[in-house]
Amino acid sequence: MERKDYLVLVNKQNKLPDNWEEISELVEVKNSFGKFLKIEKETLEKFNELRRVLLAEWVDIELDSAYRSFSIQNEFFEKFKEEYGEEYASNYAAPAGYSEHHTWLAIDICIKKENWEIISENHEMIVELWVFDRVHKKMVDYWFIVRYPDGKDSITWYSYEPRHLRYIWDADIAKEIMENWLTLEEYLNKTWK
Ligand code: DAL
Ligand code: ZN
Repeated sequence: MERKDYLVLVNKQNKLPDNWEEISELVEVKNSFGKFLKIEKETLEKFNELRRVLLAEWVDIELDSAYRSFSIQNEFFEKFKEEYGEEYASNYAAPAGYSEHHTWLAIDICIKKENWEIISENHEMIVELWVFDRVHKKMVDYWFIVRYPDGKDSITWYSYEPRHLRYIWDADIAKEIMENWLTLEEYLNKTWK
């Protein structure tokens, strides 16, 4: 994959490029709960490194979701609408074709707590401030960014999603984005300086 592909912008205005499936290289992985997920090879390697380093700090993260096909994304979006209503669905889920999860570079993590409790819903994660402080500080070293940062709804058109990490393959860019709490849109459009 070329470097520019790792910076692909998929959002409410930018659909996944039509030829994306042809250049995708997915690997399949089974998480520790036995769930099978598809993900880009290097994204998985870097996630595993991040996971190991966080474990040493008593933060146990796991992959909850990675690549999603258009039909799975559609199911996900419809489920959100049914469970939480149109407004919530539009703040937290992308319509099929417009999700970063189609790129295989986006992951949703869940947290395994000491008492075997698993936290996977975004609204439960928002209160895990200490955990996400650790995750967000470390992930930049593994070239991940928070794709929907807090307070940037008017740019991303999504609410804060601490669990949704996006791999971008570049140490300097990841650092610039995370140190300045930027969105990928701001970074790519150079609108923040
Ligand atoms: N939760 C993000 C916006 C997605 O569904 O792709
Ligand atoms: Zn996500």
